[in-house]
Amino acid sequence: MSGLSFRRAVITGGSSGIGLAIAAWLIQQNTELLLVARNQKKLEQAAAHLTSTYGINTGVQTLSLDIADRAAVTEKLGEACSDELAPDLLVNCAGMAHPDYFQKLDSDIFDATVRTNLTGTWNVLKAVVPFMKPGSRVVNVSSVAGLVGTFGYTAYAATKFGIIGLSEALRNELSLKGIRVSVLCPPDTDTPQLEQENLTKPPETKAVNGNAGILKPEQVAKALFKGLRKNRFIIIPGFQSNMIFFLKRLFPGIIYSMIDMYAKKPIGRDDE
Ligand SMILES: NC(=O)c1ccc[n+]([C@@H]2O[C@H](COP(=O)([O-])OP(=O)(O)OC[C@H]3O[C@@H](n4cnc5c(N)ncnc54)[C@H](OP(=O)(O)O)[C@@H]3O)[C@@H](O)[C@H]2O)c1
Repeated sequence: MSGLSFRRAVITGGSSGIGLAIAAWLIQQNTELLLVARNQKKLEQAAAHLTSTYGINTGVQTLSLDIADRAAVTEKLGEACSDELAPDLLVNCAGMAHPDYFQKLDSDIFDATVRTNLTGTWNVLKAVVPFMKPGSRVVNVSSVAGLVGTFGYTAYAATKFGIIGLSEALRNELSLKGIRVSVLCPPDTDTPQLEQENLTKPPETKAVNGNAGILKPEQVAKALFKGLRKNRFIIIPGFQSNMIFFLKRLFPGIIYSMIDMYAKKPIGRDDE
């Protein structure tokens, strides 16, 4: 894709799903990669998959790290990104989701979701951004659930709305350093996280969210790089998700009426 190339990218959550699809797009542009996630075996499998599938070995490095562990992120990621190792693209994609009824959702899950999605993103930004040079890019991954709060996503939406606020404020600050910040808001995407979410999703969540369709991770990655090329701040893959965002901004009452109506008509609710 003309006009957009990166020398070195750090991708948290790069071992799976959307992060892996972003890594696949980048390796085809000869970008050096550092994939960050907790499970070392999954990281190695992802690195092997990328080099064997694309026949390119620009150097795929891996770093096993829990982004919620601030001390480890500061030390290990700081070391991996200092000076000439500084990336010109940082993608904060690692995240978790555990939907359920607010009254059933354990507060420990809320805490874990905040620690991973919001504090984890913060930790990585603090460790890496100081090394980034003018012209570099930062992408934080939020969600359509960061644009419209829907049934079953109280904990998740809190963190994903938070990521948009963090990104918007950071966009303003880093513009003075010549670093652009974007926030990616995918709809439901066919990844291991979505499979995991489906295990605890209340039927109302399926009724409300089932109308926006499911994208492939590759479609999300493609939309991301198209948005970056156009210097977009908010990047929303998929036509339906863009419509939702448009309606939410201009006619929020319509969106609220729609999601309330869908929440009343779930398939397979116990009391039906
Ligand atoms: N799939 C969707 O429908 C959807 C929709 C909107 C937004 N998103 C967002 O997109 C991002 C990627 O999701 P995905 O669907 O691609 O999920 P995924 O396939 O499950 O991948 C999640 C990645 O994050 C890593 N990760 C999770 N917790 C971590 C931690 N504490 N420290 C370091 N790495 C961690 C995982 O590796 P380890 O488990 O080995 O650490 C894995 O590499 C998330 O932020 C998610 O909220 C997803």
